[in-house]
This record gives sequence, C-alpha cells and structure tokens, in this order.
Amino acid sequence: MEAMATLQFLIRQMTKSDLDSVTVIEQVSRLAPWGHDGYLRVLDSPAGVRALVAEGRVGEEQQGPVMGFVVAQVLAHEMEIYQIAVHPDFRRVGVGTSLMEYVLGEGERSGCRECYLDVRRGNLEAINFYIKHGFEVCGVRPRYYRNPSEDALVMRKRLKT
Ligand SMILES: CC(C)(COP(=O)(O)OP(=O)(O)OC[C@H]1O[C@@H](n2cnc3c(N)ncnc32)[C@H](O)[C@@H]1OP(=O)(O)O)[C@@H](O)C(=O)NCCC(=O)NCCS
Repeated sequence: MEAMATLQFLIRQMTKSDLDSVTVIEQVSRLAPWGHDGYLRVLDSPAGVRALVAEGRVGEEQQGPVMGFVVAQVLAHEMEIYQIAVHPDFRRVGVGTSLMEYVLGEGERSGCRECYLDVRRGNLEAINFYIKHGFEVCGVRPRYYRNPSEDALVMRKRLKT
C-alpha cells in the first residue's frame, strides 16, 4: 500500500496511441464493449467529445501506464458521460475522482448545466462513486442493458454555470 500512497498521475487528452490500454481497461472493467474501433470513431468525431486518460508518472519526467479513462459528450447545455473506468490495479486512490472532476470541469467551462449518465442498477461500486460526486438517480430504463439483462439507473448532477 505504501507505493499507492505516492502514486503520481496526470490527466490529459486521450490519443490514438492510448487505445490498446483503454480497451484493456474496458475489458477488465466489464464496460459496454466499444472496442478499439469504437474509441477511434469517438476520437475522430466532431466537437463535443471529451476523452481523457489518467497517465501514471514514474519519477519526474517518465511516462507511466494509462490507469483509467473517461469519455463524455457535450450536447448543447448537457454533458453525458458514456464510459469511465480505472484499471483494477489503481482503484480507490483517487484516479476516478480526478477523471470525474476534470471532465465535469470541462462540461462547466462549455456551459453545461447538467451532467447525465447511465449505470447498471447492480453496479453498487459505481453508484457509490457517482453519489460521492453529487449525482442523484433521476430515472430508470427497464432492461436497458444486455448480457446480462439489467435496468439502467439514469443519474444526474447539476453543474455550476
Ligand atoms: C467506479 C470507478 C471508476 C471508481 O474509480 P476509483 O479510481 O476507484 O475511484 P476513487 O478512488 O476516486 O473513489 C472515490 C470514491 O468513490 C466511492 N467508491 C469508489 N469505489 C468504490 C467501491 N468499490 N465501493 C464503494 N464505494 C466506492 C468511494 O466513496 C470513494 O471514496 P473513498 O475511497 O474515500 O471511500 C472504478 O471502480 C471502476 O473503474 N469501476 C469499473 C468500471 C465501472 O463500473 N464504470 C462505471 C460504468 S457506469
């Protein structure tokens, strides 16, 4: 645990060279599978997409592993978070919080008034994480997810604009 206490990372824009790491994190986190091509389409898509990674730092200058990522979209005055995950090796040390705070800050700077996301009803870890970040449940999409079939909770957070 001591190594984790000194964990250093920074948040930066996702690039195509991150996609191998991003898809590994996607798989081990059991997110809806977008795969390499899905993220490539997002990175190539027009304005509105916010795609960020948390990258570890080894020593002063050296680049470390991609630890987590978030993909969101700004649509007029709303932001929607599509994917957020942290590699299991780096959870519970604030990486997800930094990604969330950074992307919500981008939403606020873009004039968004609210941020929405969907989450599996049984994903209590993520739901706790979202509640900690000020999201509240505002709706349910029955059997929205497949493999396995499960309801989605729609969660919303009002942003400071
Ligand atoms: C949800 C997720 C992104 C959180 O990332 P993280 O880097 O571990 O989160 P943080 O360390 O910033 O945690 C912040 C707070 O969220 C809550 N939280 C995070 N993980 C939790 C867990 N496993 N159980 C309960 N609460 C949790 C806690 O309140 C935590 O604060 P604390 O550590 O001081 O108690 C991560 O667990 C993950 O990648 N999960 C799998 C992918 C996923 O389900 N994504 C969401 C799909 S909708």
